[in-house]
Amino acid sequence: MTIAHIIEHLATRPFDLEEIRGSDVTLRPLRDRDLDWIFALYRETDVWGAFGWKEPRNRGQVGQIAAAMRKGFADDPRMYQVAFAIVCKGEQQPCGVITLKVANDAADLTIAIAKSGRRKHAALGAAQALFEWCRAKTPIRTILGNALHSNAASIELMKRLGMKDQGVQDAAGDGRSVRHFESDLKP
Ligand SMILES: CC(C)(COP(=O)(O)OP(=O)(O)OC[C@H]1O[C@@H](n2cnc3c(N)ncnc32)[C@H](O)[C@@H]1OP(=O)(O)O)[C@@H](O)C(=O)NCCC(=O)NCCS
Repeated sequence: MTIAHIIEHLATRPFDLEEIRGSDVTLRPLRDRDLDWIFALYRETDVWGAFGWKEPRNRGQVGQIAAAMRKGFADDPRMYQVAFAIVCKGEQQPCGVITLKVANDAADLTIAIAKSGRRKHAALGAAQALFEWCRAKTPIRTILGNALHSNAASIELMKRLGMKDQGVQDAAGDGRSVRHFESDLKP
């Protein structure tokens, strides 16, 4: 890492990533060659829509996002990032990505599953395994989730994860409402 990198990214991940095994999913750290399927996933309309993007990112932009996820950098230099590919039992190709953007001991959860892999509890299993790993192996104490009020799948997933509904606290900045959820890992 160069001095410019350190200045640009003040927060670095204070622990190593490892493979995490859930009951029906495995989370593995991202690799260089993951770009193709991540690009395809991030082209899905409800995925980039859920991220709050106004249009899908091009391949170069997704390449930069994937590189930052691998290195652990978040867009905000005060945060670091934790990102894993989600691989369902018996499959080779990942079906999704789960990330945490961490500031101090609080982490923002993002999760996306490819349409073809949905409603098989991939997101649920991945998030449960990640929460447990965070609780046991990291300084992260609180997981925060933001779902667009119109995103029923995301809202129901967070409820199913046992995250506490904090209500609609503010707007996304473009007129859309956001519902906030929170989970204490180490109360
Ligand atoms: C939200 C998302 C990650 C859910 O992934 P998934 O793997 O299909 O979810 P799961 O199969 O693990 O579902 C777990 C629970 O979430 C809820 N759920 C998931 N999808 C749902 C839907 N379309 N409608 C209502 N509830 C839903 C259900 O309670 C479900 O449990 P059940 O199947 O026993 O009823 C997926 O729809 C997705 O990637 N959407 C686009 C991106 C996005 O919105 N990300 C979240 C915000 S960053």
